Amino acid sequence: MKCILITGANKGIGFEIARQLSKLGHRVIISGRDNTRLNEAKQKFIEENLTVEHLIMDVGDSHGISAAAEVLRKKNIQLDVLINNAAILLKTDQHILQDDGEILQQTLNINSIGPLRVCKAFLPLIADRGRIINISSGGGSMTDPVGGWSPAYCVSKTFLNSITRQLAYELSSRQISVNAMCPGWVKTDMGGRSAPRTVQQGADTAVWLATAEKIPTGKFFRDRKEIPW
Ligand SMILES: NC(=O)c1ccc[n+]([C@@H]2O[C@H](COP(=O)([O-])OP(=O)(O)OC[C@H]3O[C@@H](n4cnc5c(N)ncnc54)[C@H](OP(=O)(O)O)[C@@H]3O)[C@@H](O)[C@H]2O)c1
Repeated sequence: MKCILITGANKGIGFEIARQLSKLGHRVIISGRDNTRLNEAKQKFIEENLTVEHLIMDVGDSHGISAAAEVLRKKNIQLDVLINNAAILLKTDQHILQDDGEILQQTLNINSIGPLRVCKAFLPLIADRGRIINISSGGGSMTDPVGGWSPAYCVSKTFLNSITRQLAYELSSRQISVNAMCPGWVKTDMGGRSAPRTVQQGADTAVWLATAEKIPTGKFFRDRKEIPW
């Protein structure tokens, strides 16, 4: 049984990753920025006879992140897997040239710096040979056709991919693997109703990266297969 912390897990893909991992018998800690939404999510797990723990954490708030790490440290919790899932895609994120910097800054703060902050704060609690999984997007790939939608969001995921590789290098001494993955275009509040994929499909690669016996480090995946950065 692994102990797994997932950010932004009160809904969408994060919730489904938590659900699948909990069903597999792992100890899952769901985190979210809003107490009410987190409790509502917890209730859904209870209705499915699944047990999860919860942790309040806004990934945009460094003090809050430190406080959340302290909560787990006091409980002597050691993490085997950290899944950085929380992210935003702002409706106003349309044209990079029309952004005075606000949209980009807000998006980078949550989607890229946020996961880095979370990694740093929780690193002392992550076991050697543990795993960090960053939920990225094909929109961050420099080999996909670049441009045409949500530029700040796409830049934030390119940034996250780059952070993933830097962390993979720095954490290799502790044999902590750090990988990024794209869930594909998934039907969630972020992905919208036209998205072709279910949350189950979107969550699959993260669940695999969290539980497979052996995984590499410093790679980018979709559908359990390595994809180019
Ligand atoms: N859906 C897609 O098609 C798609 C495609 C590629 C990649 N992704 C990636 O997959 C991940 C999950 O996306 P999703 O589609 O499930 O999105 P979602 O339904 O919008 O859920 C996003 C989650 O992140 C949380 N969150 C947002 N800001 C936060 C903050 N400051 N602190 C803590 N939690 C925060 C949200 O909490 P609240 O409920 O409090 O807002 C929610 O739990 C994201 O990293 C996204 O970029 C999604």
